[in-house]
Amino acid sequence: MTRILFLLALFSLCLPAAAQRADVNYDEAKVPKYVLPDPLVLADGKPVRDARTWNARRRPEILELFRSNVYGRSPARPEKMTFELAEIDPRALGGKAVRKQIVGSFSDRTDSPRMGILLYLPAGAKGPVPVFLGLNFGGNHTVNADPGIRLGQVWQKGVKQAAVETARGAAAHSWQVEMILACGYGVASIYYGDIEPDFNGGKPHGVRALYPGETGAESWGSIGAWAWGLSRAMDCLVKDKAVDAKRVALMGHSRLGKTALWAGAEDTRFALVISNDSGEGGASLARRKFGERVKNLNTSFPHWFCANYTKFNDREEDLPIDQHMLIALIAPRPVYVCSAQEDQWADPRGEFLAAAAAGPVYQLLGKKGLGTDRMPGVHEPIMNTVGYHIRAGKHDVTAYDWERFLDFADKHLAAQR
Ligand code: GCU
Repeated sequence: MTRILFLLALFSLCLPAAAQRADVNYDEAKVPKYVLPDPLVLADGKPVRDARTWNARRRPEILELFRSNVYGRSPARPEKMTFELAEIDPRALGGKAVRKQIVGSFSDRTDSPRMGILLYLPAGAKGPVPVFLGLNFGGNHTVNADPGIRLGQVWQKGVKQAAVETARGAAAHSWQVEMILACGYGVASIYYGDIEPDFNGGKPHGVRALYPGETGAESWGSIGAWAWGLSRAMDCLVKDKAVDAKRVALMGHSRLGKTALWAGAEDTRFALVISNDSGEGGASLARRKFGERVKNLNTSFPHWFCANYTKFNDREEDLPIDQHMLIALIAPRPVYVCSAQEDQWADPRGEFLAAAAAGPVYQLLGKKGLGTDRMPGVHEPIMNTVGYHIRAGKHDVTAYDWERFLDFADKHLAAQR
């Protein structure tokens, strides 16, 4: 029973709240004509013709536009953050993995928010391994049925509660730990609610409460906080000699896909970024006004973005950026955008078109973008430095998705298989 309730709660997190509303456009013929802002034109109107100008001038301009209009501004790394190895099992998962559980305290306050990092590394690795890092929705114990994963606390309806035994492995299909390990990669996962709980009014319970001075229309929202938390996890991974910190790939689904893209834009230590079904405010183009809109985001999830983002409710064409420029901020690092066919709320075509429109920046930096404006069919992945696939089925992360993430990572991070 508890398991069913838990699954229902997890499922409701992923439900497109307003998907069936009559005012939502799902008709391609009703997509308005739009002009995307050009990532390769400076604010002063001059063209960006070389990598130097991109890196020194245009990239910082775009990053700043996303900070001040969309995700908000995040603080620097905390000076008093500590990481403590709370548990290690060199023979986890029937001997296939080394499992480490690390507690990161964001400050030296006794009541500081803390995040639990669950890290699996392939047993018997000959050297440092590449690692997938991502936030999870339901608690670290949902990532795998492994009885050794510590049961932490999870947020339910705005209340922190002890995680329950019966929820172990509830999200295992979205993590595929054994498949990842068998391919020679490690995987690290963190419960996003450890960084900040996901409800309007959750701010006092998360990392943003440690920075009371960060207020105003440009200050960070929860997505900014979760992305910042990923950077703090990276601060920990770079210290682990068993991890190849130059090959850490971010993976995020849905709101956590938006988060992964933003983290990859803000922090260039991440070698590769995967956005799965991230939709509006993530990989898909806002100007298409297809499926979820900026106003839906700001209404249903007012805590996610900075206050300035509300200026673009019903006025997406006024945004000084569009989401292809978020993807371009990751260049020249590999980025993989994934959609699901039945996830029209996230606008799969808009996700594809944004990935395609980041191409000129990749090209300028000597890499190959998607290389096509024609959306591929279902299960026809494209894997250049920018990659894309659309899978059959619903809003989710599945074994098919992970197989492709691993193909893409193999191609770009050259892991030993
Ligand atoms: C809702 C929301 C989306 C978000 C998704 C999720 O559907 O409208 O923007 O991506 O939740 O995170 O599951």
